Amino acid sequence: MIVLLVLLILKRGTVSASWSVTFDDPNPCAVKGSSVEFRCSYDYPDGEIVRKTFWSKGQSESGQWTRVKLEDLPSHQNRSKYLGDLQHNCSLAIHDLQVNDTGHYYFWFDTQKYGRHSRENVYLSVTEPSARVYPGTVRVGDTVTLECTTSCQFASTVWFKDRRLIANPKFQAQVEDSGNYACAVKGQESVLSDPVALEVQYPPLNVSVEASSLGRLSVNSSVTLTCNSAANPAADNYTWYSSAVSGVGSMLQVGSGQVLYIPSMEAQHAGLYICQARNRLGDKNSTEVLLTVDETNVKRLILLVGIGAKVTIVLLLTLVIIWAW
Ligand SMILES: *[C@@H]1O[C@H](CO)[C@@H](O)[C@H](O)[C@H]1NC(C)=O
Ligand SMILES: *[C@@H]1O[C@H](CO)[C@@H](O)[C@H](O)[C@H]1NC(C)=O
Ligand SMILES: *[C@@H]1O[C@H](CO)[C@@H](O)[C@H](O)[C@H]1NC(C)=O
Ligand SMILES: *[C@@H]1O[C@H](CO)[C@@H](O)[C@H](O)[C@H]1NC(C)=O
Ligand SMILES: *[C@@H]1O[C@H](CO)[C@@H](O)[C@H](O)[C@H]1NC(C)=O
Ligand SMILES: *[C@@H]1O[C@H](CO)[C@@H](O)[C@H](O)[C@H]1NC(C)=O
Ligand SMILES: *[C@@H]1O[C@H](CO)[C@@H](O)[C@H](O)[C@H]1NC(C)=O
Repeated sequence: MIVLLVLLILKRGTVSASWSVTFDDPNPCAVKGSSVEFRCSYDYPDGEIVRKTFWSKGQSESGQWTRVKLEDLPSHQNRSKYLGDLQHNCSLAIHDLQVNDTGHYYFWFDTQKYGRHSRENVYLSVTEPSARVYPGTVRVGDTVTLECTTSCQFASTVWFKDRRLIANPKFQAQVEDSGNYACAVKGQESVLSDPVALEVQYPPLNVSVEASSLGRLSVNSSVTLTCNSAANPAADNYTWYSSAVSGVGSMLQVGSGQVLYIPSMEAQHAGLYICQARNRLGDKNSTEVLLTVDETNVKRLILLVGIGAKVTIVLLLTLVIIWAW
């Protein structure tokens, strides 16, 4: 056995090589606009001298299958570059790939005795990855599937959301998954597919009340309460509840619409306020907001009126006493 192996190795080393052309990757996949390099080596018996090399592309011309030299193809003139030599390297580069560059490519070389071409060929696939998202509009928790298609047989693909790599092309939609997705052929991530959009719908979240003025509100001042929320689709139905009119405990509806306007604060307006934001997927209440009315002005008035009355009474009494005298 070992003797046989040694003999084989010796044979390879001593006996002149046969005609062959070998490609590193006979089925390369490249994306449109990128470049590809066919790594290629060729061999021939000792004593042959290579005079000329060229690459050709298999083409169907008026129903006939022919091989056209790349140098004779106008569309290849500035894009194909021979990287090989007249010894054993037959590598070829093609730049700015177009989808119609897809096809069979053959390496030929002429020696002083024979012209030869490779029976084996490179089949180049030029693809534009194409992204789809199923379904395009979902509710929180629904399953989303991303699908990337290429015309390459052996290519694997990767996904990006807003330019960041995502691990799994099938997932349960969360609020933050809304956005644009694009895919690429693995190893050629610089060329992305056209983006596809995913819209995740959800009931109102983060509902809050914004008051035009905070702290103690003076009597007769106006106040505006605005209900803010994150929702998709946007909340379109708002209900305001307050404990002010009903007293502590239960809350009563006091208005609707995104804005609650109280033109003139009175003591009975003081209390807790909440808003309920609603879209067709559901509703959510805000946290409570407390409105208080500054009644010191009112009290001062009453106090002043009181003092005035007392002074008047004292004066009147004094006058009555003087008169009685
Ligand atoms: C190739 O490039 C040369 C010089 O840049 C230009 O003059 C020529 O038109 C180009 N040919 C093709 C087919 O694009
Ligand atoms: C052939 O030449 C190219 C370009 O110079 C080089 O990248 C490649 O490694 C060479 N291939 C072989 C098999 O020597
Ligand atoms: C290949 O496609 C490109 C761009 O779409 C076009 O300019 C070119 O003429 C096409 N070449 C052939 C041989 O059809
Ligand atoms: C809700 O608020 C939290 C905390 O502020 C924030 O991280 C989240 O993005 C908000 N949600 C939406 C849908 O805006
Ligand atoms: C509030 O308005 C009413 C009616 O306009 C008025 O009688 C009252 O004096 C005002 N109170 C204060 C504290 O301004
Ligand atoms: C708002 O929602 C309530 C409760 O579902 C409903 O009764 C009311 O008709 C809705 N209003 C609008 C304007 O859609
Ligand atoms: C929101 O508040 C109203 C009034 O207190 C109440 O009837 C309702 O059940 C609350 N909704 C939720 C989702 O808590």
